[in-house]
Amino acid sequence: MSEARKILVTSALPYANGSIHLGHLVEYIQTDIWVRFQKLRGHDCTYVCADDAHGTAIMLKAEQLGLTPEQQIANVKAEHERDFADFFVNFDNFHSTHSEENREYSELIYGRLKENGHIASRKITQAYDPEKELFLADRYIKGSCPKCKAEDQYGDNCEACGATYSPSELINPKSMISGATPIDKESEHFFFQLSEFDGFLKEWTRSGTLQPEVANKLAEWLDAGLQDWDISRDAPYFGFEIPGETGKYFYVWLDAPIGYMASFKNLCDRTDGLEFDEYWNKDSKTELYHFIGKDIVNFHALFWPAILKSANYRTPTKVCVHGFLTVNGKKMSKSRGTFINARTYLDHLNPEYLRYYFAAKLGGNIDDLDLNLEDFIQRVNSDLVGKVVNIASRTAKFVQKAGGNLSTNIADEALWQQFVDASDVITDHYEARDFGKAMREVMALADAANEYIAAKAPWSLAKQEGTEQEVLDICTQGINMFRALLTYLKPVLPELSKKAEAFLGETLTWDKAPSFRTGDAINKFKPLLIRIEKDKVNAMVDASKEALAAAAPQGENNTGGCNSDDKSELDRAPLADEISFDDFAKVDLRIALIKDAQHVEGADKLLQLTLDLGGETRNVFSGIKSAYKPEELVGKLTVMVANLAPRKMKFGLSEGMVLAAGPGKKEIYLLEPHSGAKPGQRVM
Ligand code: 2FM
Ligand code: ZN
Repeated sequence: MSEARKILVTSALPYANGSIHLGHLVEYIQTDIWVRFQKLRGHDCTYVCADDAHGTAIMLKAEQLGLTPEQQIANVKAEHERDFADFFVNFDNFHSTHSEENREYSELIYGRLKENGHIASRKITQAYDPEKELFLADRYIKGSCPKCKAEDQYGDNCEACGATYSPSELINPKSMISGATPIDKESEHFFFQLSEFDGFLKEWTRSGTLQPEVANKLAEWLDAGLQDWDISRDAPYFGFEIPGETGKYFYVWLDAPIGYMASFKNLCDRTDGLEFDEYWNKDSKTELYHFIGKDIVNFHALFWPAILKSANYRTPTKVCVHGFLTVNGKKMSKSRGTFINARTYLDHLNPEYLRYYFAAKLGGNIDDLDLNLEDFIQRVNSDLVGKVVNIASRTAKFVQKAGGNLSTNIADEALWQQFVDASDVITDHYEARDFGKAMREVMALADAANEYIAAKAPWSLAKQEGTEQEVLDICTQGINMFRALLTYLKPVLPELSKKAEAFLGETLTWDKAPSFRTGDAINKFKPLLIRIEKDKVNAMVDASKEALAAAAPQGENNTGGCNSDDKSELDRAPLADEISFDDFAKVDLRIALIKDAQHVEGADKLLQLTLDLGGETRNVFSGIKSAYKPEELVGKLTVMVANLAPRKMKFGLSEGMVLAAGPGKKEIYLLEPHSGAKPGQRVM
């Protein structure tokens, strides 16, 4: 093979205020497969990532949880790292943008932009929350649409009629943070003068760094003319203060991509032979690949290369853009149970099922990718269990019976040649991130292998006298085909490959796949993978619905993309529309005594409560299991909605609802009246 390439790879940095979900995982799995492929090919490939820890959303989230931002980002980082590790996403380093390295590079880069005359400052007027004393981004303001009068619309566009406007045009605008009416306020901001890079970007975006469809989209923006980019935010803000200014912070999107450098620097500082400059210097001969979702192309293919150019660093070799995840053909939805968190998936299913399914559906383009749950079950069971693993399970035992050593013959040279010839094609598909095509090649080989084994039927042959050698030859062919297939699948299925390696007694490497192994011993075959059971998939969907029931009310917060912007992460519900006293009086709130509390078999989030309303008993399922042990609750008083229509749930009829507050997980707080209140009393 030609000389080893030096490649630095990144995935977009997840925000430190939310859990990883299957939408995110499209990208991390895609990147991880590509990185594992490069490493398996013998290249020097380094994969770094970090949490994106700054910004208003994270500051507010921490405040809402009663944590400091530092505690909040530490908790989320630990959770993210666990989720990634359990999906076998194997970063060489996972850092944080709230780090000394990132501060150092952010300041350095800003200093260079300034020195080069690419930073301008001017006063701008923005909406300001006078109660919270905070400037409000458009997404934190709601009101009625100035065009169609639809209520409850965000500050920049109307979901009802599609109109776009500025927050000052909204009718009856309200801050979503405090409910106050925003006022206009002026402050000084700093701008990166992107238009200075118009010529450079026109060339750079067409130089093979981007997929053609992405370059075409950017050409539209470039033709429309580039605007200055506001890179500062006023205090209070969680981020890095701008050197030489007071109360001014770098906007989260300025220091986020610099976080790629910071994470790499952090790794270099503890890795011999890994040199920061070799990867980031202007004349670097190494490769730099960013994997991102299509919603953040402007940041990575306009702002970021322009910043790097101004600051005298190298620019990316490629920005690899992917589409969004849909589930069963639709945007992920909490109420349908298709907004599935990484951990919920892991509680029910093997991560390699999803890795394979995503690989089978990923092309190197920006098309959305659909996780159809029926097709998922069918495809994984048919391809991995029915085709690939089956080859070894049908042949290994005959090798064992013959003493455990492979034959020294190749039974069908022509068939083997197909496996050899496929190597280059599969390599090219992986390199182009066209994993779907790579998987189709692999499965076509698996089909050929299964046809061969079925036609030769070693199990029948073995019953006849004097066929030992022939049976061993056939099964040796089978084991070699299995071995090549598992090598080609190793970037996608690291754990399955590990088990196959234990069985074959060797480490699978790309260059060895085309060589036929003969004569030596293999180990006893143990089952490698079980079929997906539909019940498990259903249980995962139910658990995702329960997670919604358990969470604070926040409506249908669809985040179709894997890279939601921080708008969708704001989970503090806006104040609901005003209601009349008569409306309120319709809700019958009662003091309830928790007489009994039980776990619900098969439910991850629910507890079953028996509530005494002063004579009458109610059965209520409540999504509070993450925060309470049943035994802690028995004997406590709480408040329930007593006249809610009974709801049929999977586990039985729920006859009312108990009241609780908090963001979820461990932080759910059941309301408890002061002592003296009696079961059955009305709460007014
Ligand atoms: O869209 C997002 O989720 C961002 N946190 C991605 C940042 S990627 C990089 F620029 F840091
Ligand atoms: Zn409207």
